[in-house]
Amino acid sequence: AKDMGADLKQVLITKEEIDARLAELAEKIDAEYEGKDLLIVGVLKGAVMVMADLARALSTPVTMDWMAVSSYGAGTQSSGVVRILKDLDTDIKGKHVLVVEDIIDSGLTLSWLISNLGSREPASLKVCTLLRKPEAAKVDIDVEWVGFDIPNEFVVGYGLDYAEKYRNLPFVGTLAPHVYGG
Ligand code: PRP
Ligand code: MN
Ligand code: MG
Repeated sequence: AKDMGADLKQVLITKEEIDARLAELAEKIDAEYEGKDLLIVGVLKGAVMVMADLARALSTPVTMDWMAVSSYGAGTQSSGVVRILKDLDTDIKGKHVLVVEDIIDSGLTLSWLISNLGSREPASLKVCTLLRKPEAAKVDIDVEWVGFDIPNEFVVGYGLDYAEKYRNLPFVGTLAPHVYGG
């Protein structure tokens, strides 16, 4: 399929809705970190789009770093086995750290990441995620800022992939069954 549109079932969240929600979250995050140095940590690769847009919506000056962890591989189910593919470039000890994710599904990736980063003794450690699937949660995680709670369906776009594709869709949507080989 050369045309990504033909692979889509439904648009769940439009680009405009994402922009508006990120502006709201940015205001709250600005208030929380007023007068503080903030490091935002994006979780590659899914969080690339939300990092880029959230960072520009903030008034707070931030530094940015990236971690690459993967628990999905090419499938649609979280394996629970988290691998560090790329660690942070900097020491976060004593820093205010905000982890930015595209989605919390089972929560296994983030729960592992929180305990990993927490052991590095940051001054504070909070989480902002664009999407969360409450029905899919296998572990409870304290998340300060959530863009949208969504139903337990596999979604792509705005950073989220299926087998590494569809990340560059500007919106969040679901895929037609034929894409999965149905
Ligand atoms: C996806 C997504 C989150 C994680 C959420 O990443 O971007 O990081 O899975 O799933 P969980 O809550 O069930 O752990 P993935 O491992 O697919 O890597 P990617 O960001 O490179 O696509
Ligand atoms: Mn990810
Ligand atoms: Mg993925």
